[in-house]
Amino acid sequence: MSLILFHSPKGGVGSSFLAAQLAIQLAQRGHQVTAIDFTFQGALKLNFAMLPSQSLANMSRTPGDVTVVNGVELLNGYDLAQERDFREALAAGHAGLFNPEHITIADVASGDREMKSILYDRCDLHICTLMPEAAALATLPLVVPGTATVALRKTAFVLNAIDDTRRLSRDSNRFVRQLLGDALIANVRRDEAVNEALARFEPLTKAAASSPIHGDVARLAVAVEQRLGRAPEAAEDAGDGAPRGTTKR
Ligand SMILES: Nc1ncnc2c1ncn2[C@@H]1O[C@H](COP(=O)(O)OP(=O)(O)OP(=O)(O)O)[C@@H](O)[C@H]1O
Ligand SMILES: [Mg+2]
Repeated sequence: MSLILFHSPKGGVGSSFLAAQLAIQLAQRGHQVTAIDFTFQGALKLNFAMLPSQSLANMSRTPGDVTVVNGVELLNGYDLAQERDFREALAAGHAGLFNPEHITIADVASGDREMKSILYDRCDLHICTLMPEAAALATLPLVVPGTATVALRKTAFVLNAIDDTRRLSRDSNRFVRQLLGDALIANVRRDEAVNEALARFEPLTKAAASSPIHGDVARLAVAVEQRLGRAPEAAEDAGDGAPRGTTKR
């Protein structure tokens, strides 16, 4: 089992978008992947081209239904995570809550400090997404309060929505690279096609097949495999991206 926690102290930086893109990319590279949305707003599914009206299967304490899109098993973890005894079981490290065969990606809201802290202790890799803007970079000391950013061993950073035509973006990139060194595992460029694809409820691969983001996310996936010590598996056809409905696992 490998658990990847997506959480940033600053909201709106593209954490859910990258959680979804990484999940899809890892599935295309042959891994078995589960993505769990622990947020109230439930926006992860939109990044899989699902409609707001389409609901995800709920996470449960025992293996149950899952919704499969783009080769990724998607679950809503928010409802279960509101139960105190579930959070306690997670914090106690109870086995069996996550599929042992899968890479599990957890999308946690920036404001949900408790869930972040529980999953941070359990995860193999924490990915903190940043954007090249003051409000996001100013939260760097809050990634794990009390621990210097450069001393974080489990955390990898992604600088998202970079626009090299803008000076602030170039300067932020230089600053973050100098500060974080190898902990900055990927840069992802800004592309308006991301929002256009969301607005059309289309997968980014279909709405913008030539977007530079695909190459950036592929590099992110390779960096994640290296951090997890997992080689790519035999690649699978992840299909056309349409939701496959709810299946038993
Ligand atoms: N690389 C990118 N290029 C262009 N737009 C992007 C990029 N990454 C994210 N976005 C857009 O930024 C917005 C915020 O993204 P997202 O919802 O993934 O952020 P978040 O950190 O999960 O936010 P929240 O705190 O609300 O959960 C969305 O409209 C998304 O489409
Ligand atoms: Mg989000």
